[in-house]
Amino acid sequence: MPVISKYAVMGNPVSHSLSPRIHQMFAQQCDIALEYSAIEVAEDAFLSAVTQFRDEGGKGLNITVPFKQQAWQLADHRSSRAELAGAVNTLKFDEEESIYGDNTDGIGMLRDITGNLAKQVGGAKILVIGAGGAVRGVLGPLLEMQPSLLHIANRTSAKARDLAVVFGKFGPCTASGLDELGGVSYDIVINGTAASLQGEVPDLPVKIFNHETLAYDMMYSKEPTPFMRWASENGVTHCSDGLGMLVEQAAESFYIWHGIKPDTKPVLQALR
Ligand SMILES: NC(=O)c1ccc[n+]([C@@H]2O[C@H](COP(=O)([O-])OP(=O)(O)OC[C@H]3O[C@@H](n4cnc5c(N)ncnc54)[C@H](OP(=O)(O)O)[C@@H]3O)[C@@H](O)[C@H]2O)c1
Repeated sequence: MPVISKYAVMGNPVSHSLSPRIHQMFAQQCDIALEYSAIEVAEDAFLSAVTQFRDEGGKGLNITVPFKQQAWQLADHRSSRAELAGAVNTLKFDEEESIYGDNTDGIGMLRDITGNLAKQVGGAKILVIGAGGAVRGVLGPLLEMQPSLLHIANRTSAKARDLAVVFGKFGPCTASGLDELGGVSYDIVINGTAASLQGEVPDLPVKIFNHETLAYDMMYSKEPTPFMRWASENGVTHCSDGLGMLVEQAAESFYIWHGIKPDTKPVLQALR
């Protein structure tokens, strides 16, 4: 009997997660036998849940809201992108008993935008809305591609300004509140706020868009998100949700665990 390796995603809530389906499809494609489950963890029980999973033979975990910062603290060693993000979404339990932490959200979004959606990031003017954990994870990989400008705008402007101070070392990074936008239009507008989760659209001027803009919502859903609907209503023809980001970040986690890069296209098609 082949040994079946155990993996899981931990979060709260997590029952909606598509990660078990995605990882099973990757595993089938690569002829790897694995078990991948979704484990809902009480807010104060993250450390004990990880320890139990590992003691039962678990090899790796994906971590989602609200545990990414705790996972960062738990990791014994981290990739430079996780270090910079201050958040970990992938844990790997090494043979030597140490825990490796990585953050694949940023590279996942970048591969979706540049690969699946064929939009150039190098030289582009980019607006990122929001200043929470997800945004922190994508700023480093975006700046690595050398956009001509990366502006962060957040409802609470101080949080955007704090991020611009940290990430300004890596490229042309500016910041403001949402109410200061409108003077410039952008090639790519990324909604990294949690507003879509509440059925809302951040309070934004339509002048941030031009004919060529890609309006990208990190959130995904069966229907176009409120942000995508609002962008379309205001003349944007190129809109996307974050399903491709989810599949691409999963592919990078899969690579970290198994050393094989799965083909994401058929998986994304199946989920659509
Ligand atoms: N596709 C993927 O693989 C993937 C991966 C990770 C995250 N995500 C998505 O990314 C989004 C953000 O997640 P997160 O973990 O970064 O959340 P978070 O840390 O809670 O950050 C929330 C951010 O949203 C802003 N915000 C919330 N409600 C708002 C509203 N009504 N209007 C304007 N701004 C609002 C907050 O502004 P204030 O600072 O002013 O409160 C803050 O900047 C979620 O939709 C999540 O589903 C997707």
